[in-house]
Amino acid sequence: MAAAGLDERFRERRRWMQALLAGTGSLALPALAQSMDRPLDVPFVPTSDETVDRMLRMAGVGPKDYLIDLGSGDGRIVITAAKQFGATGFGVELNSERWKLSLRNAEKEGVADRVAFYQRDLFETDLSKATVLTMYLLPAVNLKLRPRILSELRPGTRVVSHDFDMAEWMPDARADRGWTRVYLWIVPARVEGEWAWKQPVGKGNPEFSIELRQQFQVISGPVKIDNDPFWLTDARLRGDELSFTVIGDAGGLRIRHEYSGRVSGNTIKGSVRMVNGDNAPPSSAPWSAVRVAKKP
Ligand SMILES: C[S@@+](CC[C@H](N)C(=O)[O-])C[C@H]1O[C@@H](n2cnc3c(N)ncnc32)[C@H](O)[C@@H]1O
Repeated sequence: MAAAGLDERFRERRRWMQALLAGTGSLALPALAQSMDRPLDVPFVPTSDETVDRMLRMAGVGPKDYLIDLGSGDGRIVITAAKQFGATGFGVELNSERWKLSLRNAEKEGVADRVAFYQRDLFETDLSKATVLTMYLLPAVNLKLRPRILSELRPGTRVVSHDFDMAEWMPDARADRGWTRVYLWIVPARVEGEWAWKQPVGKGNPEFSIELRQQFQVISGPVKIDNDPFWLTDARLRGDELSFTVIGDAGGLRIRHEYSGRVSGNTIKGSVRMVNGDNAPPSSAPWSAVRVAKKP
């Protein structure tokens, strides 16, 4: 069985190569264009059932999810998400034969009331309802979609791609099995800018500020307390969940503040765990910060 699985993956690779070589050197594949007046951007190579399952588990798909599959082929990802994970959603597919097949498959699998399939160009598809976006496309197509994924999907939306990455947007998780890769990204909130808040330290109530720089989910930036520089460590952004730690000497007290909160527009609300002074016991308090400038 294992050897047969490997053979199948070799065949899958070969189908990709043949399909790509049949193209013109660009991503347009005239030999594969079968419907509507627009050539396909990606050939049809179905995701194996095992990889579909892995993609959906990696994204943690459940009954509250609305999944969109871009280039949905015979519908297997959307149908499995509905049938086995309780999700709803839709797929878009340009090719009319495969689109019709996905409609028939949804009926056959008893999920036609929970999923939809549209014969539509994936580049003209509204993505905003997705809580999970799945793709088995090509690197250049992923890259073309990337700005829309980052701006149109809500922070926290999970994006899963079979085999192809998103260049310098590093995945939050990746799982390889044999020749197959599955990537997961969590759409990050836009947190770039200067954030400020007040926080009692000893007898004072100094002003804290952090100038966050952001490259996708990676954040960094200088922290100041009343204009004195402090250390920022453990800065982390996952969807709209932001956390970081500030360390330094404030008014003769060695402090360590661990912040965590949720970003919503220009505010962050959460809590802080504080140690103010070497021998002081930790204490916790609510925390909120506001964005006072968009760019650091
Ligand atoms: C690699 S297959 C993946 C099929 C399915 N998502 C799966 O994983 O089994 C890519 C699919 O995208 C479709 N496709 C290519 N260009 C498209 C476009 N611009 N809009 C919608 N579908 C497209 C192809 O017809 C093909 O069925």
